[in-house]
Formats: sequence, structure tokens, C-alpha cells
Amino acid sequence: MEVEKAVSKLTAVTFSTNYAKSFLSKQEMMQYRDFVKVAHNGMTEKTATGSEYLGWLDWPKYIKEEEIREIEDFAKSIQESSNVLVVIGIGGSYLGAKAIQEMLCSHFTALHEVKVIYAGHHLSGRYLTQLMNYLDGKDVFVNVISKSGTTTEPAVAFRLIRQYMEKRYGAEAAKRIVATTDAEKGALRTLSAEAGYQTFSIPDDIGGRYSVFTAVGLLPLATAGISIREFLNGAKQAMDDLSSSELEENTAYQYAAARQQLMAKGFSTEILASFEANMVYVHEWWKQLFGESEGKTGKGIFPASVIYPTDLHSMGQYIQDGRRLLFETILQFEENGDDLILEMEDDNRDGLNYLADKTFSTINRQSFDGVAFAHSDGGVPVLALRVGAYDAYHAGYLLYFFMKACAMSAYLSGVNPFDQPGVEAYKQNLYALLGKPGFEDRRKELEKRLYSNE
Ligand code: PA5
Repeated sequence: MEVEKAVSKLTAVTFSTNYAKSFLSKQEMMQYRDFVKVAHNGMTEKTATGSEYLGWLDWPKYIKEEEIREIEDFAKSIQESSNVLVVIGIGGSYLGAKAIQEMLCSHFTALHEVKVIYAGHHLSGRYLTQLMNYLDGKDVFVNVISKSGTTTEPAVAFRLIRQYMEKRYGAEAAKRIVATTDAEKGALRTLSAEAGYQTFSIPDDIGGRYSVFTAVGLLPLATAGISIREFLNGAKQAMDDLSSSELEENTAYQYAAARQQLMAKGFSTEILASFEANMVYVHEWWKQLFGESEGKTGKGIFPASVIYPTDLHSMGQYIQDGRRLLFETILQFEENGDDLILEMEDDNRDGLNYLADKTFSTINRQSFDGVAFAHSDGGVPVLALRVGAYDAYHAGYLLYFFMKACAMSAYLSGVNPFDQPGVEAYKQNLYALLGKPGFEDRRKELEKRLYSNE
């Protein structure tokens, strides 16, 4: 058992281009070798563009035992006092926790009695009304997460939920709210100090979409009953395994180089595909990571996602046969934990006895190979990522793998992986249209465009 676990830890995530042989050559890939080395050294020496946000690189090992224990203890106190935790945040301030919670918890039952739910990731009054109705009669705790402390969507949701908490709990409300934010700056830090909320800090040098291994991800996950130590252990192992500057030795960099090679050949959309239904939000996290890190200055691979075989019966047609601008990265788990066997039936009324005695994992795996060959034959380069097992350790490994690959891929395409200047444009318009002071000229201009007949 120990040996088995050790072996699966050694091969936590493997990368293969076997299904993309007619699109990628090793020789072409090796052309990226020197660029990779330069970018790698720039990252480790913190001289690369955006290096003020490279804190995530060492964080899984850098995080102190006291902080992990403080998070675990706080999560325990939430579990003891409450049966719902409302996590308020958007983008990198909620997607990591939501992704891992959905991945590791059952579709139908929680790992722990505390149900972790989310708000502040959109502006739907309908959703918030339903959420407030749901909270009635439950013991509620709130974790508001915002690094800047000024993002409109979570700020608006927090005002609403804070007022609800104050009405319901009076002075005790402050003891039922924890804020995760910048150590010093921002409206949320000021508000927390004034109200006396317990706080956790987001390191200055770690941006939202790279923050899942900080308190941003760890507190909601620990509260949901997930082992944050195993999650961090996986990330630590990935840190070691992916520390080489040599392309031949670093699978995250190989994935990055393969993506850029395919992009250079006109494959400008990448579809991440999984064969596990609980992976939907890992896909969403991945889309944010790559989309927000790479999509700038007119560049970037468009990230999309599917769950198979569900989406084979919807998007499958397009992927097999539509415009040839797609490549696919398929995730497969070697050990799935829970599994079932299809049993033999004497009368074989449904004609499925040819599948008898096979596990669902086996059938799913055949589906993987069937899809990978079909799509590659149809002109879609398929990259394969095989993950050792479906658990917290491998989840931590996989997310760190993607973060490292994403930073490298962005550097190879010549963009800063850690800024998001494009997100500002909509924010300015939203402030103007909602009448925020200081945005009057923009508001006038937008209203003119809105109400003109031409
Ligand atoms: O990756 C990012 O930086 C963004 O997606 C942020 O996480 C998101 O905009 C939320 O920002 P904040 O935590 O400041 O509210």
C-alpha cells in the first residue's frame, strides 16, 4: 500500500503528446528550450516582468505551520458554531475554493455538516434573494474575500449580507464574520478593523488567480472538511518536481511549449476536457487562470471546457467536425477511488452483457482513448494530462502544475502573466453607469451612445 502510494505520488501528473504526433514534433518543441530557460531564470530570480507577483512560486513551502494551524482552528470553530459558511468573493477570490470543494465533495452529500456556499460572484438579485431565504433558520458564518477590498460585486453582496447578519445577530455578528484581504490596504481592511472582524491576510506578492494555496482557498476548504495539508503537500511536491529549467525535465514547461507551438500553427482555442462530472469548477478556475493571464495585447489562447461524455452529445459534433482552430487538453485520473462494476444479466435484455464485469473506470478510460483518437483523426491536436489519483494531494499538485505552466506559457507568448489591465474597461463603465462620483464625464458619454438613434 505504502509502495503503491509512493509510486502514484511520483507520477502525480504526467503530460503526453502521443495523440498529437501529427501536429507537434519534438524538434519544433525544442526550439522553445532557450526561451524556457530564460523565462524560468527570470521567475526564480524574480527579475521577469510582473515579478512583484511571483510570491505563489514558493508559497506552498513558505506558508508557516502556525498559519496552517490557525486556519484549521478557525475552520473548526466555524464548524462548531455554524451550519452554513457564505464565502463572498469573485474571480481568484472564490474560484479556487469552489473548484476544489466541488471536485472533492460528493454531488449529493457534504464532507462536513457545514455547507459552504458562495455569493458576490455576480449581481443577480434573484440569486441573493434565494440565498437570504436559505439562510433563515440556519447558523450562519461569513467569509468575505477581496484582496483589493474594493471590487464592486463582492462589496455589494457583503453590504447586504452584513446588514442581514447585524439584524439577526446584533453585536454577535462581528464574531460571525471573517475577512480575507490585503494585510494593510483597502476598504475591507479598514472596515474589518473598525468592526472588529477576525482577518486573514493575502500576501502582497500573490495575485487573485494564483492565491488558492493562501487563506483565500484554504479557509473555505478546511471548513468544507477537506485536508488542506494534503492539498498543500501535493503543491509542495509539484514545486520540487517542476523546478528544473530544462524543457526535457519539466512537464509543466512542456505543456506550455506545446500550447504555444499549437497556437503558432493557428490552433487558437484550447478546450480542457475531463471525464469526471465534479470537475466543472476546476475547469472554470483553469479558464480564469489562463484567460486572465494570457489574453492581452491582442494575444492569448482562448480557454474553453467540456465534460465528457456529457458534452460529446452537444459540443462533440463541433469539436470533431467544425472549424479547425481547436486543440484539446484531456485530463484523466488513473485511480478514481469510488467505482462500480456492471453485473452480468442472464437474459441480457438491454444487450449490455459485453460490458459485464467491467468497472465504470474501465469504461470511462476506453471512452477517453476513443475520444482522443477520434478527435485527433478529425484534425484536433490532443494533449493528455494523466493525474495519479482523485484526491486532495493530486488536486494540489494539478493546480500548481497549471499555475507554473500558465506563467511559462504567458512569458513564451511575450505577455505579463500577472496583470489584468483589460478588466478595468468594464469596471470604469459600470462605475459611470451606476453614478459613482468622479465618473460623470464617462457617464454622459455612455448615455449619449445608449440613447442615440443612429
Ligand atoms: O486574478 C485576479 O486578480 C482577479 O480575478 C481577482 O481575483 C478578482 O478581480 C477579485 O479581486 P479582489 O480580490 O481584489 O476583489
